[in-house]
Amino acid sequence: MPYTVPKLTDFSKASLDAANLEVTNAVAQESEAVHSEAEWKAFRDRWMARKNGILTQLNELWLKVAPGASKREVGQRVNAIKLHVELVVEVTRCGAIFESEEAKLSADRLDVTLPGIGRPLGAEHPVVKTMNEIVGVFRNLGYSVEEGPEIETDYYNFEALNFPPNHPARDTQDTLFIAGQGSKPQRDRLLLRTHTSPVQIRSMQKMKPPVRVVCPGKVHRNDAPDATHSPIFHQVEGLAVDTNITFCDLKGTLDHAMKALFGSSVKTRFYPSFFPFTEPSADVQISCIFCGGRGVRDGAPCRNCKASGWIELLGCGMVDPNVYGFVDYDPAKVSGFAFGMGVERIAILKYGVDDIQLFFNGDVRFLEQFV
Ligand code: DAH
Repeated sequence: MPYTVPKLTDFSKASLDAANLEVTNAVAQESEAVHSEAEWKAFRDRWMARKNGILTQLNELWLKVAPGASKREVGQRVNAIKLHVELVVEVTRCGAIFESEEAKLSADRLDVTLPGIGRPLGAEHPVVKTMNEIVGVFRNLGYSVEEGPEIETDYYNFEALNFPPNHPARDTQDTLFIAGQGSKPQRDRLLLRTHTSPVQIRSMQKMKPPVRVVCPGKVHRNDAPDATHSPIFHQVEGLAVDTNITFCDLKGTLDHAMKALFGSSVKTRFYPSFFPFTEPSADVQISCIFCGGRGVRDGAPCRNCKASGWIELLGCGMVDPNVYGFVDYDPAKVSGFAFGMGVERIAILKYGVDDIQLFFNGDVRFLEQFV
């Protein structure tokens, strides 16, 4: 039965004490039943609403009707009850808020013993890692890094590199051309760059000698994929132009770079070759890192160098004077060297990878071996 305020007729001390006890018991009991903010509001209004709240009723039903002799006593008691009820209501409010917060917390309680969601760390792709390593070797020698577009014009990819239109040297780089370019002059036609050498031209157009740049990047050729070929691969190009640069500088630089990349016991050999944009040109070979250059491994001919003791690794040469003509350098005043190396080829040798396709298949079991 909810508490209702009795009409007082007996104003003796014993009767007042009993009525008093009844009210305080009632407010305590009802407070126990409050567990939420909404319940608390109803509780507060029941006791304290100006219009017909229990405290108001006490005024009406007790104080107002008390005979003159009891007025003072009843007034004091009603006042005391009022302070008590206000206190209980306030304390109940804190309790209700605390309880509902606790309910919220326990609803989304975190079970710290559950196994976590592991997020594996990403890592550099072995091709990027090798490219950065190569670039790092040359940065340490004072080279800066230049980049160029992957979609190039015929002019930068071939003509300015001294491949004249229709020259057979173009056939050595099976090129992917962008379709629908037939109405443009040949030099403006777009293609996927077949090498990073066009960045040499762009760099020389941009800066005056001395120039020392490396140009890492992706290149494309119309080659069918197999264990050693991929239509997409990467190169790092190098170019140094200054006064009095000689073939000795080229040899010393590349010998140092190969030792930095493959270990100080590696030897280099320069083998005559041809590139339209260098004269003279050379292929650089390093002593076979698998058989130590002996050509024989475990009593059998070394398969990695075909028993020759040497592995061919990159192309290089002295910048052909014709190339300077395309960038307004004076060939009588400057000289320089250039080189270009395949990043996958170097990664394959460094890490003993037997199929270039592995670099592009995206198989995490392969890639995570390089972390
Ligand atoms: N661009 C040549 C290629 O892709 C590589 C190369 C050879 C670059 C000799 C050079 C160089 O800068 O001097 O086959």
